Amino acid sequence: MEESVELKYEMLDVSQLPEDEKHLLADALQISGGAYVPYSHFQVGCALQLESGEIITGNNQENAAFPSGLCAERTALFYAGAQNKIPGLRKIAIRANSLDKLINQPVTPCGACRQVMLEYERMVGKDLVVLMQGKEGKV
Ligand code: THU
Repeated sequence: MEESVELKYEMLDVSQLPEDEKHLLADALQISGGAYVPYSHFQVGCALQLESGEIITGNNQENAAFPSGLCAERTALFYAGAQNKIPGLRKIAIRANSLDKLINQPVTPCGACRQVMLEYERMVGKDLVVLMQGKEGKV
């Protein structure tokens, strides 16, 4: 038996996006500045847009006990989950910024975060919009 997995994405200029998505990406970059990244120097910010218009943000938090840290995406998603707000989730923006070099390409979530997004997307019952961007460049 053969099965396949297909991944479709669009590369867009920020100027092509609707206003709410521009704001969501800006929120994600802003919260990335508060990431705790003494080990990787790689700051990631995540902003979730709910149907109500509420925005929930999170960033990556590292720890000397390496697996104990958490990605920005799951920091935000688990907070939303803890508040019972996943059913209202509609859009996710992810921004990355390195303290060592310019990130001008989108950064994609790790497998663990994708798994969490998949399960929450099923809970929502409709497709989630996922926006990814570096510190600058295409989305
Ligand atoms: N990281 C995220 O927060 N999100 C991603 O999508 C990729 C990686 C974090 C984990 C770790 O703190 C640092 O970036 C380097 O991998």
